Amino acid sequence: MSKTKTTYYCQNCGTQYSKWMGQCQVCKQWNTIVEEVISKKDTKKPVNTGNKTSNKIWDLSEIETKEEYRISTGNEELNRVLGGGIVPGSVILLGGEPGIGKSTLMLQIALRLPFHTLYISGEESPKQIRMRAERIGYEKTNMKLLFETNTQKIFHHLEKENPDILVIDSIQTLHTDYIESSPGSISQIRETASEIIQYAKTTNTPVFIIGHINKEGQIAGPKVLEHMVDTVLQFEGDRNHLFRILRAAKNRFGATSEIGIFEMYNQGLREVKNPSKILLSTHSNDLSGTAIAVATEGIRPILVEVQALVSSAVYGTPQRSTTGYDIKRLHMILAVLEKRMGFKLGSKDVFLNITGGIKIDDPAIDLAVATAILSSNNDIPVPSDWAFAGEVGLTGEVRPVTRIEQRISEAEKLGFEKIFISAHNKINPKNYSIQIIGINEIQDLQEII
Ligand code: TYD
Ligand code: MG
Repeated sequence: MSKTKTTYYCQNCGTQYSKWMGQCQVCKQWNTIVEEVISKKDTKKPVNTGNKTSNKIWDLSEIETKEEYRISTGNEELNRVLGGGIVPGSVILLGGEPGIGKSTLMLQIALRLPFHTLYISGEESPKQIRMRAERIGYEKTNMKLLFETNTQKIFHHLEKENPDILVIDSIQTLHTDYIESSPGSISQIRETASEIIQYAKTTNTPVFIIGHINKEGQIAGPKVLEHMVDTVLQFEGDRNHLFRILRAAKNRFGATSEIGIFEMYNQGLREVKNPSKILLSTHSNDLSGTAIAVATEGIRPILVEVQALVSSAVYGTPQRSTTGYDIKRLHMILAVLEKRMGFKLGSKDVFLNITGGIKIDDPAIDLAVATAILSSNNDIPVPSDWAFAGEVGLTGEVRPVTRIEQRISEAEKLGFEKIFISAHNKINPKNYSIQIIGINEIQDLQEII
């Protein structure tokens, strides 16, 4: 193979270097400099680039706007998250922590697709995949299997095989001849992904790419892949629990507000059609001091449980302690509750906890925080099928929050009966089956609970 010219770029500020360095001289970031290909000496193209006619310039009105044709995946939850099915030529990145069930989900779908599907694995051997397929169960399948990690060899197979749908498990195992760094490095991931994307676009073949998420929750280290692909799906859940949630973090062909819920069984993943049941079973009885908030994490809505414990202070200075919530905001909310509602919280210890070990910066959880504190203070439980989304201002007003439609849809999807939001949030309640209650100020909470 002829020598390929590579150079080094800082992934943070884009400065180019001729050799690797630990710290970028310009932006002073550490470990951001990676090797990248700048010219491919080998002129043999990895894929057929189609016809050579250059793109024409359009008048907006001449462009056809008919609905994209969608290929059904045979799985309702996945179809919904994708926005109705797979768009031909689209590249879908499925991210999630190792062991969460990404391979299981993709294999299960690939086995049942009525199209010629090629499952390329660099992770498990064909024997392991055969065993997993037996476990999941299938009758007759159009799926074929390839155990290969070199993209040039993969494209060689693809030319002959010409599959209708391609699954790559996983991007971290692939490597291209054009770059020397090891599989899983940023430059390998970026280069192999761009080769695959080029293949998808020129042949109009939809491709699913599985990618492992690291501890920080980013796909493949820096988010190098997210902007390259059409759709980013995230598979989440606690490995020790049965439930898995599939969300679209980005979708060029649909909304990102939809989620799919699955349950992990011995025979693979099962779609959960009635998600409210899950939530109600985990909250069997209503307890005082808890309230459910609909927060957002990035662009995705998530439901979190806020727990508060208010008790008489034993020592002189009352304690205030939070987990997952800003302590300054807790002080502010306590002050508002005292001033506007006359609660004597100054002589009480207040503990606040966001369950699940996550930290929420979204001010929309204020309303649930205030509700949980009131609920604990008065020892009156809040029904577990109520959700809250609103910011609390210094005067006690409940302020509108962003992405309210997504929050309402998420609460509705998860089977909540009522959602309490700011009365100033402009929404059309007719669009939802969940009961939406607008609140003007925090004083109204008292009456509600
Ligand atoms: P896997 O799909 O290999 O995860 P990933 O590709 O995201 O790393 O699945 C991981 C776990 O799922 C594994 O620990 C075993 C469990 N599992 C089941 O519970 N039931 C099944 O039918 C299968 C195939 C796996
Ligand atoms: Mg896997």
